[in-house]
Amino acid sequence: MGAIGSGATFRRNIEALKSYKLTTRLIHDVYNPDTSCDFLGVPLALPLMTAPITGAVTNMGGAIDELQYNQAVVKGSIDAGTIAFVGDGATPDKYKIGLQALNDNKGLGIPIFKPRSDNNEILKRIKAAKKAGAFAVGIDIDAIVFKTMAMKNQSVGPKSPEKLKELINAADLPFVLKGIMSPRDAETALKAGASALIVSNHGGRVLDEMLGTMDVLSDIISAVGNDIPVVVDGGFRSAVDIVKALALGAHSVLIGRPIAIAAVGKGAEGTAFYLNKMKQDLQKAMILTGCSTLKDIDQSLVVKI
Ligand SMILES: Cc1cc2nc3c(=O)[nH]c(=O)nc-3n(C[C@H](O)[C@H](O)[C@H](O)COP(=O)(O)O)c2cc1C
Repeated sequence: MGAIGSGATFRRNIEALKSYKLTTRLIHDVYNPDTSCDFLGVPLALPLMTAPITGAVTNMGGAIDELQYNQAVVKGSIDAGTIAFVGDGATPDKYKIGLQALNDNKGLGIPIFKPRSDNNEILKRIKAAKKAGAFAVGIDIDAIVFKTMAMKNQSVGPKSPEKLKELINAADLPFVLKGIMSPRDAETALKAGASALIVSNHGGRVLDEMLGTMDVLSDIISAVGNDIPVVVDGGFRSAVDIVKALALGAHSVLIGRPIAIAAVGKGAEGTAFYLNKMKQDLQKAMILTGCSTLKDIDQSLVVKI
């Protein structure tokens, strides 16, 4: 489940997270912090969702197949009170597997499709997502030069602002853009009608020597203001990492690889166990930082060193 090139982008995600340290607030009466929020109208028990990961057989040793993997993360996330994103891949029909898992779970999850050059190819998949009951859809705008896509003749590429707007309008569902790493792209996405942004460098899998997601998060949030939720991923591994992102103004966090390990190890149960543990750890961190709700997690809690 590696990264591209020297691995520097993946490592930078971790380093950028580590460059923030937390302060505590210990004199207060917070006993039972509330970790809940909602994402695009769907209530979440904690500000953590499961990142889309495809390629169970090629990337995870084939211990479980793609459908079993998707079932495990979608159901396990719901069991823990949150949701999973599901992915799309080089095999033209791969998206159907994620959608099957959503269909079996009342559509509670969000498919992220590849940015296929022809908008109609994406719209075809969005139509299928609506049938599966998905409450939102999206694309990973950074998946534009993947070797696996080229090998299977699946044409992907960047979207101009006009093409993006056209796609979002035609989708007629809340639209998530994953892969935002600059305030410029964030502003364009907002103007094109995006309902939520995911600050992500694909876990270091698209380009070497990128900035870490925590390096760019604050500037992106300043660029879009409070208009839409900004989610972040890349190297988040603990509840204190989540606190750091929320302190900078993120709505929530996605975690990918560790949840994949839990899902391959023990299916939906493993996924839910991991997420529930994160919720308990977040409650502890909120007590130590004197936060009774997620809104209390503010910039005063973090120091950049
Ligand atoms: C094996 C693997 C497959 C992935 N497949 C997808 C995908 O299909 N669509 C997508 O948007 N992101 C995909 N990603 C990126 C993740 O959604 C996420 O952005 C990234 O892994 C960062 O989170 P992490 O450091 O917690 O793993 C994939 C990542 C991995 C490791």
